[in-house]
Amino acid sequence: MNHDFVAVRKMPNTPSLIKGPKDTLVLFGELFQRGYANGLVEQAQKQGAKIITATVGRRDGGSSNEGNFGELRPLTPQELALIPFECINVPLEAGFDREAASDGLNVLDRLKNVKLSNWDSALMDWPLIEESQKLAKLRFRNNVKLFFNELSNKVNPEGNVIISHLMAGGVPRHKIVLALLSRTVKGVGEKYFSSQKLWESDLGKLIARNFLEVTAETFNILLQEADGFIKNHKGKVAFTAYGYHGTEVFIENKLTWQSYTPYLQGWAKIALENYAKEHAQKGLACTVYNCPEILTQSSSIFQGVEIPLYPLLNAFKLLAPTSKTTLQLWQSSQGKLKDGVNLDELLKTCDYVLQDKDIKELNYFDLWPQHSSAKQLEKILVASDAMLSAHKDFKDVMTNDLSEIIFQATGKVILAHAGQANQPVVCLGHDVVVDASL
Ligand SMILES: NC(=O)c1ccc[n+]([C@@H]2O[C@H](COP(=O)([O-])OP(=O)(O)OC[C@H]3O[C@@H](n4cnc5c(N)ncnc54)[C@H](O)[C@@H]3O)[C@@H](O)[C@H]2O)c1
Repeated sequence: MNHDFVAVRKMPNTPSLIKGPKDTLVLFGELFQRGYANGLVEQAQKQGAKIITATVGRRDGGSSNEGNFGELRPLTPQELALIPFECINVPLEAGFDREAASDGLNVLDRLKNVKLSNWDSALMDWPLIEESQKLAKLRFRNNVKLFFNELSNKVNPEGNVIISHLMAGGVPRHKIVLALLSRTVKGVGEKYFSSQKLWESDLGKLIARNFLEVTAETFNILLQEADGFIKNHKGKVAFTAYGYHGTEVFIENKLTWQSYTPYLQGWAKIALENYAKEHAQKGLACTVYNCPEILTQSSSIFQGVEIPLYPLLNAFKLLAPTSKTTLQLWQSSQGKLKDGVNLDELLKTCDYVLQDKDIKELNYFDLWPQHSSAKQLEKILVASDAMLSAHKDFKDVMTNDLSEIIFQATGKVILAHAGQANQPVVCLGHDVVVDASL
């Protein structure tokens, strides 16, 4: 494995930086149902710490397909009332797709004439797009300054604070972009669509640029603007971010690194890691936690991303064969399957597909992230359908429980590890998930 690969393999036994009512967990991003941040929140609540959340704000414009967005605004009192925790009401939307340049047009307005028939020859007006990018970044930076001003009035000045960056995304909400991205992750046979082809086009370069803004630049700006807050705060301050860089899962009983392909956010996630390394070198306590694949509001469109989730069952069986958690998990998972389907046998589908030559070919840590191939995508999607159709009820699937186990376990590990070690990038695989779950 590459020398850059640092894994946390056991639940840290150090007490968390935030362990009581004087301490605060701050979510830098919105909390969605089933999202990774729920694990942090549950754990922080158990530890009795205060929780403060953020918002990306809202826009009241018309169609999201073709420009025409309203101004970015904070939440109304009614919207704020729906948030279960104290929320800093400064709109932290990032990305430049909805930001108008000096000619009054935003990026989505500029894509109006892009169609499925001409997207690959569509050329972007980069100087004007760069104007939008600069303006959006300035707006975001100013809002982060306001965010910190408010934060300093909300935290106990002597308590410890963990600020957790959740942001990822940045798909320009244009119907052609959505259609093309959907084909890169779901297109098989004649509909197969190469992620590389998209990425090499001007349109792909535009999407990649917005990914970078939302996923990585937001973390850099958060850390750059934190100086004043850290200097004035008497307690300790640590920063965390969620990364993804493949995951170690058990394939045929052996802990093996693998990744979802095509993970088009991958380049932005590498930039996120690099920002953590840069700021850690300057003395900031910041760590990117590369986490396993789970199903959330953001990831569920990537059919096949859930394949490496199933082997978590094998991880429990191998590492904790007699534990009550393992026995209950196996029993409830078997109960979700159609009569006559044996869970042990079914899991071999995942072992088989993750070992497949066409899939392994696109799973090199040193070459990560890699683009898709027609054969690899087809095999992943067939396996995904096979796993799903073994269930009695599509709404009650094993991957829901497995995702929950993972976000809870990673929440525990991150809160215990954050700010304790000078490690800017660490990976959390299925081994530590089991350890933290027992
Ligand atoms: N789901 C997975 O398999 C997986 C795996 C590893 C890491 N992660 C990472 O975990 C983090 C949380 O994601 P999640 O999967 O729990 O999904 P989620 O949908 O719950 O969270 C996505 C977050 O991104 C923020 N966001 C989206 N667009 C934004 C924009 N334009 N500007 C500012 N913020 C924006 C949202 O407010 C939200 O906080 C992300 O960084 C994600 O990449 C997810």
